[in-house]
Parts: sequence; structure tokens; C-alpha cells
Amino acid sequence: MFDPDSWYAEEIERTIITEDEIRAKVAELGDRVSADYAGTDEVLLVGVFKGAVMFMADFARALSVPVKMEFMALSSYGSSTTSSGTVRILKDIDSDVAGKHLLVVEDIIDSGLTLSWLLKYLEGLHPASVAVVSMLRKPGVQRVDIPVKYLGFDIPNEFVVGYGLDYAERYRELPFVGVLKPSVYQK
Ligand code: PRP
Repeated sequence: MFDPDSWYAEEIERTIITEDEIRAKVAELGDRVSADYAGTDEVLLVGVFKGAVMFMADFARALSVPVKMEFMALSSYGSSTTSSGTVRILKDIDSDVAGKHLLVVEDIIDSGLTLSWLLKYLEGLHPASVAVVSMLRKPGVQRVDIPVKYLGFDIPNEFVVGYGLDYAERYRELPFVGVLKPSVYQK
């Protein structure tokens, strides 16, 4: 819940997705994915550092099928605020994913370039299947077509933070998604 007495109260313009809405959506996505993968031995969740950590932790606990978790750290070349589509792996998956059912867990799809690259990379490892679950997506800004099977919310193309999303590494821990005041990043 947005706390008007908190350290961030003067920095967040408004909440666009509340903590309750996030909780309900995680449960709904968990039910859908559990139904779709019912009977599967194991689903391998692939989270991308750092933004997906909050959603990964909640989503994994909302599933009723057995999972394993892998994390990758990726870095895109180019400026810090725009994806270039050229990605470098800083930390790779630890296990052999051939023949496994992979579910990529993302916090947000913006240009889509990170995920587009990642999906090609994962397909090359010969999994049994690959699907994507993303909590957020900014519609209309994707530069590539991304097949997102499970989506939480489409959100406006604004500077959002919280629930994993950062500005200069801050705000990831906020339990809601909010719009950052321009005064914070226009200093
Ligand atoms: C964010 C987010 C996605 C990616 C989406 O990560 O977590 O991975 O950007 O952007 P795209 O659709 O334009 O490729 P970021 O590179 O900011 O790293 P972070 O998760 O550590 O904040």
C-alpha cells in the first residue's frame, strides 16, 4: 500500500497498480499456468535479474506444479535507458535445459528486444517448450513481436517503478507499481 508517510511519498506521482491488484493477478496467473502445466513433471522458471526477482518469488509460490528456478543476468549494449537488442550474458543458466519446459518470468516488456534475444537463445538449447509470463507490458512500444502467453497488466508508457522496476537501482522494493515524478529524474 502507498504509505503517505514513507520516504518515497514525495517521489511517486501516483500508484497505477496497487499491492492488492498485484496479489490478485499473481494468484490468477498462477492458477492459469498451473492448469496449463498440470501433469508436467517440472516447469523450469527462468528469471532475468534484477527486475524479475519480486515477481519470480511471488509467482513461484502461486503455482501448484513443481518448479525449479534459474536466473540469468543480461546486459544490453547501448545506453542505460534504451535497449539496443544486442545482449551479453553476465550469468547463464546453471543446468541443462534440453527437453525441459521453460517459462521465462519477466517483470516488464518494453521494447521487447531483451526478450526477443533471450527467446532465440533459449530455443537454441533445445527445450521441450518455451513460454513467457510477464507482469507488465507497455503496449505500442514493442519493436519486435513477442509472444507473451501469460500477461499481468498492460500499462501506460510512463516512467514506472516498484515491484522490481528501478530508477538508478532504487524503488525496486516498493510493493506497488507507481509513476515516478519527473522531478526525480530531471535533476
Ligand atoms: C528491464 C526488464 C526487462 C527489460 C525490458 O531490465 O527487467 O528485462 O528491461 O526491456 P526491453 O523490453 O526494452 O528489452 P533492465 O535491463 O532495466 O535490468 P534490471 O532488470 O536489472 O532493472
